Amino acid sequence: MNMNVDVILGLQWGDEGKGKIVDAVAKDYDVIARFQGGPNAGHTIEFENKKFVLHTIPSGIFHENISNVIGNGVVLDPFVFMKEIEKIQSAGYDPHKNLIISDKTHLIFPGHRLLDAVCEMALGNKKIGSTLKGIGPAYTEKFQRKGFRTGDIFASDFESKFKFHRDEQVKRAKEIHPSISEILIDGLSYDEYESKWLEAVKDLQTFRVEATEIYLNRLLQNGKRILAEGAQGSLLDIDFGSYPYVTSSNTTSGGVCTGLGIPPTSIGKVFGIFKAYCTRVGNGPFPTELHDEMGEELRKNGHEFGSTTGRPRRCGWLDLPALRYAIMINGVSDLVMTKADVLDSLETIQVANTYISQNHEYMFPEFRFGENFEPKLSNHNGWKMDITNMTQKSELPSKFLEYFNFIEKELNSKISYVSVGPGRSQIIKTQ
Ligand code: GDP
Ligand code: IMO
Ligand code: MG
Repeated sequence: MNMNVDVILGLQWGDEGKGKIVDAVAKDYDVIARFQGGPNAGHTIEFENKKFVLHTIPSGIFHENISNVIGNGVVLDPFVFMKEIEKIQSAGYDPHKNLIISDKTHLIFPGHRLLDAVCEMALGNKKIGSTLKGIGPAYTEKFQRKGFRTGDIFASDFESKFKFHRDEQVKRAKEIHPSISEILIDGLSYDEYESKWLEAVKDLQTFRVEATEIYLNRLLQNGKRILAEGAQGSLLDIDFGSYPYVTSSNTTSGGVCTGLGIPPTSIGKVFGIFKAYCTRVGNGPFPTELHDEMGEELRKNGHEFGSTTGRPRRCGWLDLPALRYAIMINGVSDLVMTKADVLDSLETIQVANTYISQNHEYMFPEFRFGENFEPKLSNHNGWKMDITNMTQKSELPSKFLEYFNFIEKELNSKISYVSVGPGRSQIIKTQ
């Protein structure tokens, strides 16, 4: 078996710029495949003065000759999916030509969105801060072996089975929160949403739905190259993230094999994407979070507002313990630093090298409850220069390279690319 599957995934709490990097390197691959997550993701791509935010559809969709696969590990909401398709079509692309959906991709029902909302309401100030796209409830039913899959929509009794299951979901939601009529889903009442969702299921039937694990393995045998596109980030992984403030899938490299049906021996490079600082949207621990003007400045410079929900992202310094851990779990072979330009104007940049608690120093992240882990910060001089138009490593300012070298040394890993702006070509090869 050739090792022709490379992986791109986030090493922090999501929004590291995965979409931009996938789009930038896509031309080197025959297939881009999503292996987990669903419409909770928001992957931004900018090229030729156009900007797109993709949720369920892989970031290779704008390359006509590249096949895009939604793998079995993904959860798909037909309504959200069709909205995304319409936007892509109105920009002049035809996703019917280069998109394939696994028949085993689980469906997000309107009832999952309802359950997500009522479960979060019930948690009060302990809520996860979910994107409310129905992710947790859809994966829960998958593992309860009650879920519906994309392949099921072609059965003649799909709608009657759907309605039976829907009644049970609505009943459960009412037990948690009796007045569900108050809850709007994407601004619509449950009934309105459901009828639009059922229309979208019909549209979904016009797409190529098949056993993508067979398709992908055939391509591998023929020497084709696949890029697996991760969603969310390693610190949101259901097992290795800051549980319970996580998402409901394996966002780490282990998820690639189960989410696509390809063997571990086919995996080549693992690109770990990280921002030159840190952000988090939603609740949960964030040891290097900045609650002062510096946090505001990072948010402003980096336009740190959620691509899916528009929520302001929490901002803080780079967290090396967290990165060390994520590199280890994922087996990262190549690091990619994004949004380096966001630090262009800063006098001093700080980085957490370790955490300190009760006179003990920790090299890996600790997200234990009730214990205060203080990041131990080091200071670095800012480069105070616009790097957004630079294209070669040799052009980068010396103070930038000091920051870059420090990170490589601390992480004992090489940074292969530095991204210096949101555009497709704003990327510097550094290895
Ligand atoms: P993803 O979820 O990992 O794909 O990331 P998002 O798209 O949610 O968030 C990343 C944001 O940063 C998007 O608005 C991108 O257009 C933007 N972006 C990506 N790379 C860079 C970069 O190197 N510099 C700047 N300034 N913005 C970037
Ligand atoms: P991309 O792929 C950032 C966060 C939510 C919440 C937690 C659980 O764009 O990097 P969920 O909706 O999965 O129940 O939410 O995970 N979250 C993300 N944060 N980027 C994402 O995706 C995210 N997807 C989920 O904010 O804290
Ligand atoms: Mg995002």
